[in-house]
Amino acid sequence: MRYKEKARGKSPDYTVLSNFIVLEGLDGAGTTTQLKLIDEELSRLGVLHYCTSEPSDGFIGKIIRSILEKKIQALPKTTALLFAADRNEHLNNPEYGIIARLRREELVICDRYLFSSLAYQSERCGFDFVLSLNRTFPLPQHLIFLDTPIDLSQKRLTHREEEDIFERTDLQPRILSDYKMAFSLYNDSDMTFHRLDGSRQPELVFQDFWNIIQTLPMVKV
Ligand code: TMP
Repeated sequence: MRYKEKARGKSPDYTVLSNFIVLEGLDGAGTTTQLKLIDEELSRLGVLHYCTSEPSDGFIGKIIRSILEKKIQALPKTTALLFAADRNEHLNNPEYGIIARLRREELVICDRYLFSSLAYQSERCGFDFVLSLNRTFPLPQHLIFLDTPIDLSQKRLTHREEEDIFERTDLQPRILSDYKMAFSLYNDSDMTFHRLDGSRQPELVFQDFWNIIQTLPMVKV
């Protein structure tokens, strides 16, 4: 077993952030489309919200984008450290960070979070190393996994001019298996896990997504 702590049967206490929702999925699974749809709907309803993504558009996120686009090269562990550093800024920036926004009663929806690090960085860096970088970050109240078959996800990516370093088809089965291992870690936590069938039309996926979101308290702008 690659995840040693689970094997020892420990069950750490995790902090869960209310009104924080995370979308996850393989490349091409449809998380970006769903983020756009929820942003439009919440804006239409005048709900105080913040739709964001990781890597973030902060200064570390920009370095990560250059690595993903192969403009600069970094060792796998450097990349894993950068993702964790970006996450720390994204969460904790006193003015614009996710936690500050939740305190201001914004509903925060994020495309990718620490589960992506566990799924994407583990193959090259080892699951335990990636977990050690991410274990202190709080969990979202709802984690939504868009379960889209690998072949369909890959097909949706074919229009892109250049693939990023993790989009290769041969990497996807391993990423999926590391996603599953990552999710199983948090079975005992208070985070609610949802698996949505991402192979359907975006509007149908969105109906399920919306059913989750509408259970949350919404503050009007
Ligand atoms: P995206 O903006 O199209 O979702 O691409 C981001 C890429 O970065 C995607 O291939 C997943 C990858 N990624 C990681 O490898 N680790 C992480 O922690 C995050 C947030 C993303």
